[in-house]
Amino acid sequence: MAVEPSTAMSSAEIVALSRAHTFFSWSVQGALDPIAIDRAEGVYLYTPEGERILDFNSQLMSVNIGHGDQRVVRAITEQATRLQFVYPGFTTEPRARLGAKLAEIMPGDLDKVFFTLGGAEAIENAIKFARHFTGRTKVLARYRAYHGATMGAMTLTGDPRRWANEPGLVGVVRYPDTHRWGEKEPLPAAEALQGLEDVIRYEGPHTIAAIFLETIVGTNGILIPPDGYLKGVRELCDRHGILMVCDEVMAGFGRTGRWFAVDHWDVVPDLMTMAKGLTSSYLPLGAVAMRHHIAEAFETKMFYGGLTYSSHPVSLAAALATIQVYEDDGLIQNAARLGPVMRAHHERLAAKHPSVGAHRNLGLFGILDLVRSQDPWTPMTPFNGTSDEMKAVGAFFRKNGLYTFIANNSIHTNPPLCITDAQLAEGFDIIDRALDIADQAVKT
Ligand SMILES: Cc1ncc(COP(=O)(O)O)c(C=O)c1O
Repeated sequence: MAVEPSTAMSSAEIVALSRAHTFFSWSVQGALDPIAIDRAEGVYLYTPEGERILDFNSQLMSVNIGHGDQRVVRAITEQATRLQFVYPGFTTEPRARLGAKLAEIMPGDLDKVFFTLGGAEAIENAIKFARHFTGRTKVLARYRAYHGATMGAMTLTGDPRRWANEPGLVGVVRYPDTHRWGEKEPLPAAEALQGLEDVIRYEGPHTIAAIFLETIVGTNGILIPPDGYLKGVRELCDRHGILMVCDEVMAGFGRTGRWFAVDHWDVVPDLMTMAKGLTSSYLPLGAVAMRHHIAEAFETKMFYGGLTYSSHPVSLAAALATIQVYEDDGLIQNAARLGPVMRAHHERLAAKHPSVGAHRNLGLFGILDLVRSQDPWTPMTPFNGTSDEMKAVGAFFRKNGLYTFIANNSIHTNPPLCITDAQLAEGFDIIDRALDIADQAVKT
């Protein structure tokens, strides 16, 4: 499709000025080569020169409804025209409606939310709620986890992004992961739970406010917990009066084919964080949700937390319209329907390419792990590293109009939930061709 550029500047000019005067996240600034985007629609992004790029990662696993949905744009415009902002001590109709709507779609008796600007702030406030509610200070988190880049969330983050930001929050204790780096299969649920139980015992259950976990681990590898694991964590929390905090910032809002990933295992966390898909990233918004009895406790207890932009009316209007789109277009159902279709693509690639060592997906939350050798199992990259082959795969994607997230030895496959079967096939066709490069590294 030919697209008329609408920016006054060329890609080269935008990139040069952006690089000169703005900082990019998680980067060595001198090594950057960003792509300038002018507009986007559905699953496609367009550069100022009209080059089309298939968004196979919903940007940061966040534009779940797809790009350019005018229903959300209209809701934002209408709200911005009527009322742009009131401080969070006032309230508004979008706030009333969105709180009630979330209470309707969230599992169990999670029925009250505190609105933030994004995922990290939701985590920060979940730490506060857990500490205030329990009167305990320690929080448990895992290594293969990302919870955000503010200081508390960064401390809970176990992956190497934490290293340069240490020391962080006092009182964060690590517990064992369900998946070990460099191994194909997760631990059996009972073994992983035993590791958690040991940590609880050694730390003293009465000192632990909360256990944090990504329901399905996102950027650390789409790690789906073995059946029985979440129920086991719930049981340990109940036994010791510890709050279970599920981070659904990435896994929530239809990504897995259910509203929230916890819904697959019928588990109700005490606190649940969300962001990204809540507005499909059309505007910044996050939230921490709490179960009824926790909200009740704060009827008579002061909450020491706040943000100038908590419950920003325009972001809330965007969230309401986004949730309406999920419902009107059956996007959660589409993600559920396309889960097996994605699995079939993964299986076909694994059968054809010796470099595909493993694949996982639940709904449209998916990943391919590349290896140099299947036996012994040897990932294509070292831990927290890259390799010439992964770089070449990335370069192939860029040259052939596919954007997706590559981390360590993995290729993420997390397209917007509005994707069609044909568009999904288009993306996997490009990945198929790129894997020929990776195959050359495989020892047979
Ligand atoms: C599971 C999870 N939690 C928290 C965050 C942090 O969210 P934000 O970047 O909106 O602060 C992310 C971001 O990727 C995430 O994936």
